[in-house]
Amino acid sequence: MCSAARGVRRHGSPAIIAWAIVFFSFASSSSLSEAQLQVGYYNSTCPRAEDLIRNVVRAAIVRDPGNGPGLVRLFFHDCFVRGCDASVLLDGVPGSNATVEKMSQANNPSLRGFAVIDRAKRVLERRCQGTVSCADIVAFAARDACGIMGGIEFAVPAGRRDGAVSVMSDVLNSLPPPFFNATQLVASFAAKNLTADDMVVLSGAHSFGRSHCSAFSFRLYPQVAPDMDAAYGAQLRARCPAATGRRDRVVDIDPATKLVLDNQYYKNIQRGEVLFTSDATLVSQSDTAALVDLYARNRALWASRFAAAMVKMGNLDVLTGSQGEIRKFCNRVN
Ligand code: HEM
Ligand SMILES: *[C@@H]1O[C@H](CO)[C@@H](O)[C@H](O)[C@H]1NC(C)=O
Ligand SMILES: *[C@@H]1O[C@H](CO)[C@@H](O)[C@H](O)[C@H]1NC(C)=O
Ligand SMILES: *[C@@H]1O[C@H](CO)[C@@H](O)[C@H](O)[C@H]1NC(C)=O
Ligand SMILES: *[C@@H]1O[C@H](CO)[C@@H](O)[C@H](O)[C@H]1NC(C)=O
Repeated sequence: MCSAARGVRRHGSPAIIAWAIVFFSFASSSSLSEAQLQVGYYNSTCPRAEDLIRNVVRAAIVRDPGNGPGLVRLFFHDCFVRGCDASVLLDGVPGSNATVEKMSQANNPSLRGFAVIDRAKRVLERRCQGTVSCADIVAFAARDACGIMGGIEFAVPAGRRDGAVSVMSDVLNSLPPPFFNATQLVASFAAKNLTADDMVVLSGAHSFGRSHCSAFSFRLYPQVAPDMDAAYGAQLRARCPAATGRRDRVVDIDPATKLVLDNQYYKNIQRGEVLFTSDATLVSQSDTAALVDLYARNRALWASRFAAAMVKMGNLDVLTGSQGEIRKFCNRVN
């Protein structure tokens, strides 16, 4: 069981089931900069904006379920680096030496979902020109992916504006790498005013999607990490050769329920069947271990806290009012 290899080969069956619908609304709850984001921000300026985005996201997930986890991770990588300002979407300008976030090894080539954002933007520009920011599209699309693949529904305050700056070196300074231990993870989230509980809750996103072997092969070689289940480690070694000159293959992060965003991740941690040190480490100290146990046993509680934490993360260093701009194309500044 739990063969990552088999999981990958099965990839493509779009059996998307919205499980028990959890309905949560978090109009204002964040201690983060308490930005002036509002639920229903586009009520009058582009009333169908959220519907249009959801339709694009739903179609993209039907075409390739990997777009769902891709969009959730895109939101995380946007918000943690220079705030939720769509800086992650910017392409480098030819002829400039400036390297953008997209080019960081944490994003390239693994980050996905860009084409979905671009498609949504095209639709919105046709309907409500110059109105809906790319940063809000990223936030709505991530929320929609959680609804479609996890039954986790929540309201997303909006009104973010798009930034003009994207710097590659910001990425590794802001995003925690997969080899971080619990202490380091807590510190990295604290730097974004997010708590240890937020960190444990948001890590539950590792309940769907994929990883490249290169992100965790340090836990397979020269021997399987002591905090990894031995049989699981052996399966991963078969899938991920001790890389040198081989193509970087991918495995399902959660082979048990790979198309569903649920609390399976926490059960996987308790069995030692998770890919990253940053996952396994959550049971290495008593406070986070207690949370892992709580969420492993209570899907609805986890889902409600996950929704709240996504909203909270969505407030990170946002640009509002007259700051930034509304991009015409999400991959470049106006
Ligand atoms: C706690 C620290 C975290 C670390 C160290 C981490 C690290 C990683 C790594 C290394 C991958 C594999 C990328 C690849 O090689 O393809 C990954 C995938 C993913 N991460 Fe995280 N992550 C963290 C937190 C988060 C958070 C907070 C979210 C969102 C709320 C998230 C959502 C995802 C998703 C959905 C995927 C699968 C992406 C796909 O299938 O394209 N992660 N993460
Ligand atoms: C938009 O409409 C919804 C539903 O009627 C309402 O809850 C929300 O407060 C409105 N938001 C704004 C900014 O007008
Ligand atoms: C790129 O960097 C080189 C060396 O630092 C410099 O000579 C050149 O002017 C830079 N080009 C641009 C477009 O910034
Ligand atoms: C976590 O990693 C840091 C940096 O390597 C180290 O100083 C610390 O002792 C580690 N903490 C634990 C609990 O292993
Ligand atoms: C975190 O909160 C402090 C104090 O309210 C604030 O100065 C800082 O800008 C916040 N940082 C982020 C990333 O939101």
